[in-house]
Amino acid sequence: MSPYEEVILDHWRHPRNKGRLVNPDMVGVEANPLCGDVVRLELKLRDGKVEDVRFDGQGCAISQAASSLLTEMIQGRPVADVAAVKDDDLLSALGGVIRTRLSCAVLPLRALRKALAQAPKEGGR
Ligand code: FES
Repeated sequence: MSPYEEVILDHWRHPRNKGRLVNPDMVGVEANPLCGDVVRLELKLRDGKVEDVRFDGQGCAISQAASSLLTEMIQGRPVADVAAVKDDDLLSALGGVIRTRLSCAVLPLRALRKALAQAPKEGGR
């Protein structure tokens, strides 16, 4: 099994930070138009950092595993750093993704960017 397959399988079988937050400061939802799969990301902010994060949704193993991995990448990080996460950062963390599945892998990142585009609630930053 390749490192890529191991990472995907691990996060798919044991998803991290799956579920919903109570009163999240930011929410982003993104669907893959090719298949209709959906990822929802919720963020709780404190002192300019991601205090807590959850993902939810339904989709293929790659989109769900990438969502789980992305939550680990951004938990506790400054919002500015989180906003700077690029597609390649996530793809590298996944161990590389075959070209035909790129849209699956970056689905949670697109949800994250939608969430970050929202104005935070008062006191959220
Ligand atoms: Fe739908 Fe992967 S097949 S996100």
